[in-house]
Amino acid sequence: MSSNDAARRAAELRALLQQHAHRYYVLDAPEIPDAEYDRLFQELQALEAAHPALLTPDSPTQRVLGQVLAGFMPVRHAVPMLSIRTETDISAAGAEAFDARVRRELALAADAPPVEYAAELKFDGLAVNLRYEHGVLVQAATRGDGETGEDVTQNIRTIGQVPLRLFARAQATAGEGAGPGVDRPPAVLEVRGEVYLRRDDFERMNERQREKGEKTFVNPRNAAAGAVRQLDPAIAAQRPLSFFAYGLGEVQGWDRPPTHSATLDALSAFGVPVCADRAVVQGAAGLVAFHAEMGAKRDALPFDIDGVVYKVNALELQERLGFVTREPRWAVAHKYPAQEQTTRLNGIEIQVGRTGKLTPVAKLEPVFVGGTTVSNATLHNLFELRRKGVRVGDTVIVRRAGDVIPEVVARVPAIRPAYVPNFRMPRACPVCGSAVLRERGGIDHRCTGGLFCAAQRKQALLHFAGRRAVDIEGLGDKLVDQLVDGGLIRTLPELYTLGIAKVSALERMADKSAANLVAALQKSKHTTLARFLYGLGIRHVGEATAKDLARHFGSIDRVMDASVEQLLEVNDVGPVVAQSIRSFFDQAHNREVVEQLRAAGIHWPEHEGEADTRPKPLSGRTLVLTGTLPALSRDEAKALIEAAGGKVAGSVSKKTDYVVAGTEAGSKLDKARELGITVLDEAGLHALLGAAAASDEEAAP
Ligand code: IVH
Repeated sequence: MSSNDAARRAAELRALLQQHAHRYYVLDAPEIPDAEYDRLFQELQALEAAHPALLTPDSPTQRVLGQVLAGFMPVRHAVPMLSIRTETDISAAGAEAFDARVRRELALAADAPPVEYAAELKFDGLAVNLRYEHGVLVQAATRGDGETGEDVTQNIRTIGQVPLRLFARAQATAGEGAGPGVDRPPAVLEVRGEVYLRRDDFERMNERQREKGEKTFVNPRNAAAGAVRQLDPAIAAQRPLSFFAYGLGEVQGWDRPPTHSATLDALSAFGVPVCADRAVVQGAAGLVAFHAEMGAKRDALPFDIDGVVYKVNALELQERLGFVTREPRWAVAHKYPAQEQTTRLNGIEIQVGRTGKLTPVAKLEPVFVGGTTVSNATLHNLFELRRKGVRVGDTVIVRRAGDVIPEVVARVPAIRPAYVPNFRMPRACPVCGSAVLRERGGIDHRCTGGLFCAAQRKQALLHFAGRRAVDIEGLGDKLVDQLVDGGLIRTLPELYTLGIAKVSALERMADKSAANLVAALQKSKHTTLARFLYGLGIRHVGEATAKDLARHFGSIDRVMDASVEQLLEVNDVGPVVAQSIRSFFDQAHNREVVEQLRAAGIHWPEHEGEADTRPKPLSGRTLVLTGTLPALSRDEAKALIEAAGGKVAGSVSKKTDYVVAGTEAGSKLDKARELGITVLDEAGLHALLGAAAASDEEAAP
């Protein structure tokens, strides 16, 4: 590249970066994914490295971006809030390159022992500085341009996880070097960390926005950043924000521990949330192992991370390494594949779900995002699609994080082909041709074909066969497609007319698999009333409601004959659910399905419900599980509680009796504290169950 071309490109990149950084940091409304921003940034860095004459002091590579939004008071940081370098190589080599650099800069001999690092997660939220004076939170500020941020104290105060006052006697658990006998909190302690939104809180927030037909948030980070920088603290308070500390700012009157890891331990003992997924590791091998371990865990984490951060653990070594312009030499970010990417929208197809709901699905130019190649992504519903303004041929941003279905979150504003018609919902179901209707004032379009519609029939079969319903092992979507498309099955009960001969006649079906399926069908006949009820796929009847119904009525006939009033007597059944159950059984063909399934041999232990009506130790108690428990999985804890007659609910309300909290417990824990509900850890749960079991034994004759 000639130096003229290089100069032109550098100017172009600077303008682009500045514009996108403003949208990202100041407006909280980015137009391009982070990965794209990083690519532009790195291109500019490379250009400046190759042509040092091009380097200008105002280049985005030379400073921290962002500025104060009108409306917040500026706060000058006592200690600048810096950024960290991002390792360009996302493979294991990135970790090795960092370790090699550190060793070189410390002038360590080749045979010197490995450097010790503190490895932690790189949270994807908004950086804030919390200033505590004599243990009291006096100010919270955003990073801003690194020198001056915005005063967001009022909004940060609404985050339940952020202590308004530090715990005393931090040294009791802080371990080595927390300072001898500091009973009083430090005169000044600035805690730095990230405000973020958990994925479940984010999904719930967007679900609510969707129900109201309002604009959804692109990702948890933008929603969190928007909440923190919301001028009205009352609105900020409605967003269930979380916080993790990862470092310090100004400190006075505190003998800080000699390592980064011990500093975080001390912060944790002060009552400040610190993420448990961190480790002290030795050398490059330790970093590589941490990167791999967290990479494998990434999807299962309750919040988004975009990478991990490595920090030289000893403060003394950190001081020796020092800083270069905007970044410390002792820390680096090592990223994972981006969870958002841009790609082309090639088409929009309609998918018909179990309840007939029509979902527009984006057919994408395949793109690698969040660790897998994605070619389909949901567009949710017509209104959301319209609001985002996406049309075939557009460049769109696709997000895939955790176990959530990939979705199109936005359109990248760009020139689009001269004429592209706006997307319309079909008036007839694309699968069965039945009329498509939208409830008055509703968001969703539905096919009215019911089980006449092959798509709904397939989904109904898959639901009935599901692990949480009657559990027919091996009956997956490919097989269901074959069975329905081949005309072998038209109704649920016909499943049980399948014999080895019929099944093995299917294409690509080995005799062994056919025999397995027939055996699985036999096995599934022996079920429970709750599983059966859930399997019927009645709208609004989830697993928990099905269990309540089974427990309350004890027999399918009593459920089928129950009036709306009788249904309303069931725990947690409201008018919408009661009406839905009633309407389901008012339809003769649904009752017929039940009769035919019974005739086919489906059965469950008699008196299943009655057995359960005997008062149990936790009868009438509602518990909520949150966070990760040390030994029990969620399903195990739930099973234990239910076996003792208790009920597990999804959200905390005044009706909750206990909240069982593990690590990384989020907004549910805050809510519990707010409402003064008893919070138990795993041991507490066992104690409760134990106490319950003991009183049960006493009660027994
Ligand atoms: S340390 C001087 N640790 O990533 C070092 N930063 O550019 C200061 N971040 O916006 C940063 N997780 O908010 C550090 N475990 C972590 C982090 C972390 C997320 C964010 C931080 C900043 C950016 C660093």
